[in-house]
Amino acid sequence: MMQFSPTVAPSLLSADFSRLAAEIAAVEQAGVSVLHLDVMDGHFVPNITFGPPLVASVRPLTRMTFDTHLMVTDPLKYAEPFAKAGSDWISFHLEAPCEPSAVIDKIISCGAKPGMVVNPDTPVVGLRPYLGRLHHILIMSVYPGFGGQTFISNVCGKFAELRDMGFTGRLEIDGGINLETAAVAARAGADLLVAGNSVYGAKDRSKAIADILAAAQSAAMVSGG
Ligand code: DX5
Ligand code: ZN
Repeated sequence: MMQFSPTVAPSLLSADFSRLAAEIAAVEQAGVSVLHLDVMDGHFVPNITFGPPLVASVRPLTRMTFDTHLMVTDPLKYAEPFAKAGSDWISFHLEAPCEPSAVIDKIISCGAKPGMVVNPDTPVVGLRPYLGRLHHILIMSVYPGFGGQTFISNVCGKFAELRDMGFTGRLEIDGGINLETAAVAARAGADLLVAGNSVYGAKDRSKAIADILAAAQSAAMVSGG
């Protein structure tokens, strides 16, 4: 089975939007290679964040991979604008009222890497038909919509379930990641840890990232992951 060493993807949602360039540079200088971008449409979730123009304007500032998490009702409509704006990975929710195969086709045809997301209460079995085509799967450990919520630990069994189902791509966890929960998630098999508040809420972003990474990597080693 393919194994990845755990890495941290800071979520720009928790950054200071009045100084985005500096906020992006701070995590890139800390060695981050994947930046998580939370897109909310005010319909699929009760909050609105940003759209393709913002992604396009920050794209030239960094070489980091843009991991775009679409919390939108119509991912088929928005996949292409985000890919054109510079999103490298694009994920959408199994709970969105769409035909997942068509959305995956669209993301791939735009040159981006497709991922799917499940909410805390959604079983992963619904992802089975799409596993062979997905670059990553994102497991929500909070209900989507806002940063700074408390980690729901009982989602962690989903990583082993997905590996048992034969999924070999990246396994991402999103919501409530801190030093303690990063270890729990990494031990359970998560290899990409999205962290909003625990990175951008910290004074020293580099230290916050290094500490989360160390907690996750030592937990993954103990579990043999
Ligand atoms: C929640 C978003 C998360 C969020 C994580 O809807 O998908 O990516 O920004 O933030 P924290 O790490 O603060 O829970
Ligand atoms: Zn997210």
